[in-house]
Amino acid sequence: MSTEPFVVVTGGAGFIGSHTVDRLMERGARVAVVDNFSTGKRSNLARWAGHANLQILGVDIADGLFAGLADLETRWGPVERIIHLAAQTSVIHSIENPLFDVRNNYTGTVQVLEYARRKKVKKIVFASSAAVYGDVSEFPVEEDFECVPLSPYGIDKLGSEHWLRYHSKVHGLDSAPLRFFNVYGPRQDPHSPYSGVISIFSDRAHAGKELLIFGDGEQTRDFVFVGDVSRAIVAACFAEGGDGSAANIGTGTETSVNQLAALINELCGGRSTISHAATREGEILKSVADVTRAMQRFGFAAQVELVDGLRETVESLRA
Ligand SMILES: NC(=O)c1ccc[n+]([C@@H]2O[C@H](COP(=O)([O-])OP(=O)(O)OC[C@H]3O[C@@H](n4cnc5c(N)ncnc54)[C@H](O)[C@@H]3O)[C@@H](O)[C@H]2O)c1
Repeated sequence: MSTEPFVVVTGGAGFIGSHTVDRLMERGARVAVVDNFSTGKRSNLARWAGHANLQILGVDIADGLFAGLADLETRWGPVERIIHLAAQTSVIHSIENPLFDVRNNYTGTVQVLEYARRKKVKKIVFASSAAVYGDVSEFPVEEDFECVPLSPYGIDKLGSEHWLRYHSKVHGLDSAPLRFFNVYGPRQDPHSPYSGVISIFSDRAHAGKELLIFGDGEQTRDFVFVGDVSRAIVAACFAEGGDGSAANIGTGTETSVNQLAALINELCGGRSTISHAATREGEILKSVADVTRAMQRFGFAAQVELVDGLRETVESLRA
């Protein structure tokens, strides 16, 4: 039987998932993508079509992983590691439909962990989110700050982190929850609640139309490029240990919406005017990660400059 690591990537057909699969395949791992294609697309993995090291399984994690992976285990042997990214990702959807979020994101995570525990998987990495923090008043945001999530999405991510920690402490399963900040890059759903603003600005700037900013535009976010995020995931996946405590994944740099609009406008030919409308109620005014822990734990620091990541993103949106 092969000695290349066998890694399951839930949500591997999605935006962050498909970039993570690219990295794993490039380093010679055998990869099983588990995805229900609710937002993920087979075309995101087209580059690897027919490759013997990639298997794509149409499985809903809320139904468990045992049946879906059984055949592959007989051919490839036991699963070594799991990268768990599958989720419904809309905060607004979770507020409108909390029971769906609980089934998909929370029960789904417990199902993945149940497989990991029973099959004695070595390590699990989990896509958590900055949404676990809620309204923070001190910056940069540290992992040990009190978490008071303001949505079912944030609650289910935080609850899932507790499940990982429990498995690490009680069942000896190494685990690493990663709290992503605002991830952007090629293959992102243009309607994504996280960085939708990038695709909206990009579409309008390409057409030379006005870029409209809600509020004074001085609200900030920590935008981190998907290539950096997939590198963090793979580094965490193969790092020794993991006690289930979370690490932020961001750049540690805050960017205002005004700066973002100006950069995108410039990258698209500089033909748009930038204007402002009334502030949107409930919008968080500031967000930036403390990134010390990811460096200490698995040597990760974001490397892609915003202007370079935006150039790639804007070009992919135009294609
Ligand atoms: N994009 C961001 O800025 C960001 C920020 C914080 C956290 N996250 C988290 O990162 C992960 C990946 O997000 P993304 O931006 O790539 O979103 P995405 O929608 O592109 O990817 C999610 C993937 O999970 C799959 N999926 C959803 N429910 C499933 C289920 N029940 N069973 C099997 N597959 C299922 C979808 O089909 C999709 O392929 C998610 O867990 C998300 O909550 C993303």
